[in-house]
Amino acid sequence: MKRTKICDIFNPALVGSQVCVKGWVRTRRGNKHVQFVALNDGSTIKNIQIVFDLEKFNEEELKAVTTGSSLCVEGLLVESMGKGQTCEIQAERFEIYGAADATTYPLQKKGHTLEFLRDIAHLRPRTNTFGAVLRVRSVLAYAIHKFFNEKGFFYLNTPLITASDAEGAGAMFQVTTLPLDKLPKTEDGAVDYSKDFFGKKASLTVSGQLEGELGATALGAIYTFGPTFRAENSNTPRHLSEFWMIEPEMAFYDITDNMDLAEEFIKYCVRFALDNARDDIEFLASMYDKELIDRLEFVINNKFVRLTYTEGIKILEESGHKFEFPVYWGADLSSEHERYLVEEHFKKPVILTDYPKEIKAFYMKQNDDDKTVRAMDVLFPKIGEIIGGSEREASYDKLLKRIEELGIPMKDMWWYLDTRKYGTVPHSGFGLGFERLVLFVTGMTNIRDVIPFPRTPGNAEF
Ligand code: 4AD
Ligand code: MG
Repeated sequence: MKRTKICDIFNPALVGSQVCVKGWVRTRRGNKHVQFVALNDGSTIKNIQIVFDLEKFNEEELKAVTTGSSLCVEGLLVESMGKGQTCEIQAERFEIYGAADATTYPLQKKGHTLEFLRDIAHLRPRTNTFGAVLRVRSVLAYAIHKFFNEKGFFYLNTPLITASDAEGAGAMFQVTTLPLDKLPKTEDGAVDYSKDFFGKKASLTVSGQLEGELGATALGAIYTFGPTFRAENSNTPRHLSEFWMIEPEMAFYDITDNMDLAEEFIKYCVRFALDNARDDIEFLASMYDKELIDRLEFVINNKFVRLTYTEGIKILEESGHKFEFPVYWGADLSSEHERYLVEEHFKKPVILTDYPKEIKAFYMKQNDDDKTVRAMDVLFPKIGEIIGGSEREASYDKLLKRIEELGIPMKDMWWYLDTRKYGTVPHSGFGLGFERLVLFVTGMTNIRDVIPFPRTPGNAEF
């Protein structure tokens, strides 16, 4: 008999017909006359209740139907008398695919802490919370591709292994096949990377932006969506060593076009999740964050505040608020500063622009004041920075000068500089940290809980 997914079973038209469902047992309870099994197959947060009449099945046979075991059940779909469910299945036949030992299966009872569940990340997708988070994540990934495709952007795949450091921050994971116990050396004692796999030093990428710019200055508008890697030793609820980033890059866009796109994009994604993952978001709201849905609606319905870094610093300095990290013009903002602006001062998402050039990457368009660059960071409630981007420096001479000032090795940059040498155009782009978006939409508070298998300093299990 053909299987029906549990997400499709709560359909009044199916009541009265024979159905077949397959899934994992969440709970079994009951008495000598009747047993109830809650079955979940991952297609929805909802379980289907299976009713086993002990006149048709013997109790011994049902003892193997333990929490975590996998089943195939056939029977009649009927309207349910029970509270909180519209229908249930009166079992007629069942088969156990795989038992789950009741003494060792770790997900016996409800209410495990999120910390405990991180230690069993291989099984946590079977919990309500992680089922919901992972479905929301998938819906958001779909929204991202849909948004850019509807706008005529092309999906560009940029390399994960690279010989350049896109952000100039230097926190990269090296990729090598050299024998670490006997490294080849040059005459002056340095490691001889010419003997390495790529004939030069290579790393995992921190951003696809530079190659994205090559795409945008040919195809007009592109976006990337892929993993990026950062070897910073930041143990915070907002940093991962491996995270997914969406990086659109557009020719002929200035900073204002860039801000408009970023705002429209985030609002589209949040709206799409509310419309297409409602049950899961409602579940997460009820469990973790009663204000979640209001906050999502609020972001969709309000225009983001736009102001310069200099104005932002002034507000922070005049706030009288005691911050852990000092505030002064030139300081890199930390998440307490960003959240103060968003949550306390404006009570709206904020786009901060025109940062000091010293705290931003080399490729950003230089302003005439010689002090600031056309950067834009989108700051969100509960999250802080969710997007970082800029208009790009389009002038060959200015870009070259900045690269020299910062001592970035020119031999790695020749191909990037060529975009400014041949048919340069004004262009802009930004990067959205996918997990930060998922954090925001799910209301979770630790980034380790919105990616299936988090990589953080000291942790690469699973
Ligand atoms: O601000 P970032 O470093 O910007 C770039 O990488 C640019 N190349 C983007 C561009 O203009 N195309 O990173 C962009 C976003 C941040 O705003 C944040 O949301 C996220 O990526 N992000 C991280 N997310 C999780 N873990 C980390 N360690 C992250 N670092 C940045
Ligand atoms: Mg940034």
